[in-house]
Amino acid sequence: MSPKLVELEIIDLANEGKAVAHLDGKVCFLKGGLPGERVLAEITRRKPRYNEGVVREILKKSDQRIAAQCVHFNSCGGCTWQDLAYNSQLEFKRKHVVDCIERIGGLEEVRVGDIVPSKEVFYYRNKMEFSFHTGGTAGFTLGLHRRGHFDEIFDVEQCLLQSELSNRLITWFRKYATGENIPVYDVKEHVGYLRFLMIREGKNTGQTMVNIVTNYGDFPDEEKMIGALNAAIPEVTTVVHNQNGKKSNIAAGEIEKVLYGPGYIEETLSDFKFRIRANSFFQTNPRQAEVLYETAFDLLQPGNDDRLLDLYCGAGSIGILASRRVAEVAGVELVGEAVRAARENAALNDIENINFHEGDVKDFLNRTEVDNNIFNIICIDPPRAGLHPKALKRLALLKPEKILYISCNPATFARDAAALVEAGYCLPEVIPVDMFPHTTHVELTGIFYAR
Ligand SMILES: C[S@@+](CC[C@H](N)C(=O)[O-])C[C@H]1O[C@@H](n2cnc3c(N)ncnc32)[C@H](O)[C@@H]1O
Repeated sequence: MSPKLVELEIIDLANEGKAVAHLDGKVCFLKGGLPGERVLAEITRRKPRYNEGVVREILKKSDQRIAAQCVHFNSCGGCTWQDLAYNSQLEFKRKHVVDCIERIGGLEEVRVGDIVPSKEVFYYRNKMEFSFHTGGTAGFTLGLHRRGHFDEIFDVEQCLLQSELSNRLITWFRKYATGENIPVYDVKEHVGYLRFLMIREGKNTGQTMVNIVTNYGDFPDEEKMIGALNAAIPEVTTVVHNQNGKKSNIAAGEIEKVLYGPGYIEETLSDFKFRIRANSFFQTNPRQAEVLYETAFDLLQPGNDDRLLDLYCGAGSIGILASRRVAEVAGVELVGEAVRAARENAALNDIENINFHEGDVKDFLNRTEVDNNIFNIICIDPPRAGLHPKALKRLALLKPEKILYISCNPATFARDAAALVEAGYCLPEVIPVDMFPHTTHVELTGIFYAR
């Protein structure tokens, strides 16, 4: 029996890109559909305060709906907004930032600047992880997750996120694995070998890393594979093999072997060099990362006498970029490997006024050297969860002159901003920056001044 459909008018886009309509006096969140559209929708879930559903047919199209350029748009779980004009994507992202600041933060006086568009809207990512998956007519697939199905991988032929080279590499590995009969890992049975193909590119250097993640065991006849790959795709500058025999399905390895080249690629951000290894964290849209950091520094206005504390520093990019503008920088990061990368990157750029500390931000802020108020400006770039309440409390007590906040989650930013305002800071300005076109994600940077 075909499901019952209801006719709805879409009035808005909510967080995570769901379309908003009204049904029976309640709000209804729909997958698919754009504001201004009339649609036929199937209601999939009825809750006391809201309904959920899926758009099955569009009766009247929005003038902001455009043809998606990717051949995989209907099956892929990424790039959900590719059928929305880029200007409208930007408008909705900025509106989300304003809504969070006003509704969650309760802050009405903050100037939210124009959103900074991404320099590139396609082929902007420097890192992609493609999964090998058993099944399908060829016996396995190599690609990305099917939309709404976390246990299905479809064969990627042409993804518009990384590069043409990345597409050629997927096709080549699919053919090589088939030709050599290399078994693919079965995520349910935990048998088989090939798990992930990770590709990392230096967008500004042209260097390319292939990282093959497998179950335990040496790569079969690795010299033959490297020879064939070099002949077919000579642009690859390094090949790394990571072994992960754990059940958790992540593309990080426990044992790493460099099969070809130096085992890392290099990238530049605003004329600073960065060395990126298979498992190091690095901003995924590097050209836009430069824009994000420049936008943040414009707000911060760092001076020669300033001492900057870079909290949640990752591989050190913010502190390294700021190092020539200030007297001293200290970075704090939980992940040891990221701290080692940060130190390596500082040395690579001959930076001597920077130190990195491994540890939890909330513990570091309790240390006496921090208490002695040697840092007059603090930069925070936390994960999506935002600041730990203890870190926030300590930060407010330390009372630096300025706090620069970079956030990938406007909701937790707004929550933390309200607490900082309560603790005696003012937040005059926030600037949203688009790092991930065609997705619903938005970054922002805001500046707090001690009152
Ligand atoms: C959004 S990333 C920022 C990375 C860096 N600022 C950059 O732009 O490349 C957040 C970082 O915070 C680190 N992190 C998460 N929780 C932490 C904690 N409690 N203390 C210190 N660092 C933490 C993560 O490992 C990650 O590197």
